[in-house]
Amino acid sequence: MQPIQRRILLLGASGYVGGGLWSGLSPRHWVTGTCSSRRVAELIPIDLRDETALAALAQQGFDLVIHAAGLVDLEQCEANPPLTRDLNVRSVEVLIQALHGTSTRLVYLSSDNVFDGRLDAYTEDDPPAPLTVYGRSKVAAENLLRDSRHVVVRIPIVYGRSPFSDRFFERFRKARTLAQTDIVCTPLYLPSLAPALEQLWDYSGLLHFGGSEVMTRYTLMSRIRDALQLPTEIVPVRSAELPGGQLRPPRLILRSNRHSLSGPGLEEALADLRSMASP
Ligand SMILES: NC(=O)c1ccc[n+]([C@@H]2O[C@H](COP(=O)([O-])OP(=O)(O)OC[C@H]3O[C@@H](n4cnc5c(N)ncnc54)[C@H](OP(=O)(O)O)[C@@H]3O)[C@@H](O)[C@H]2O)c1
Repeated sequence: MQPIQRRILLLGASGYVGGGLWSGLSPRHWVTGTCSSRRVAELIPIDLRDETALAALAQQGFDLVIHAAGLVDLEQCEANPPLTRDLNVRSVEVLIQALHGTSTRLVYLSSDNVFDGRLDAYTEDDPPAPLTVYGRSKVAAENLLRDSRHVVVRIPIVYGRSPFSDRFFERFRKARTLAQTDIVCTPLYLPSLAPALEQLWDYSGLLHFGGSEVMTRYTLMSRIRDALQLPTEIVPVRSAELPGGQLRPPRLILRSNRHSLSGPGLEEALADLRSMASP
């Protein structure tokens, strides 16, 4: 069944995840995307810290505002907590206020980094225990949205191609790339996120959406390299050997007790990647 066509404001469309959503949602919906430092002709530039401009844009009669913008790099967040707060938390406060009294709903993308990785797997019922400035900022934003009509979707590490910031595949442009053998996750194939959101955005509250297979980052990278016959050497490393390694919880498995959706398995994702042009 075709999804109902929505008017969508996509904050962070120039980014890695936002770009994937832009590609996935634009053919089926009216999508207005934003960029910031990366200027992209078809996107509107905005700084989330310009609160007046952000509120005015959000109030332009959209059905949904998807918030995929902000500061994501764990080390940059540790180095600059005020900026992390401004981009990841304050922007949500501004949007909630701007959307008050309208029918526009907010879809906020959060992260498995709200957990410390001590449990075998996490559902929406498990209490957050963030280890980092980034994780704490995501929890603070989630708390603003708790018990509201808006929706928070937590996702794990994402892989696949993205149109404006192909960050995942940049690693394969190097001769060697390091990949952790002791970080276990449910990686999510980026093209599966847009169709999942189309099924999840009418929910309210907190949702998890992850990939269907549990694997290490090393396995993920090695299998992509092999499947696409890329020349890059994938070097196995322990997390502790990397700068900022202690910031990454060792095991983050996202499961949902609110819906039965998950991303495709790796073989299906690899077949899709193989069908595209090589990097
Ligand atoms: N990537 C993952 O594996 C992953 C995993 C879990 C959750 N997430 C969540 O997914 C969302 C997107 O992450 P991502 O990996 O796509 O990050 P990203 O590639 O770094 O993209 C961040 C986006 O935010 C925009 N942005 C940065 N500073 C801004 C500012 N001051 N004003 C307005 N926009 C600004 C960027 O615009 P410019 O590039 O134009 O500056 C870009 O569009 C985040 O909420 C993150 O927590 C990502």
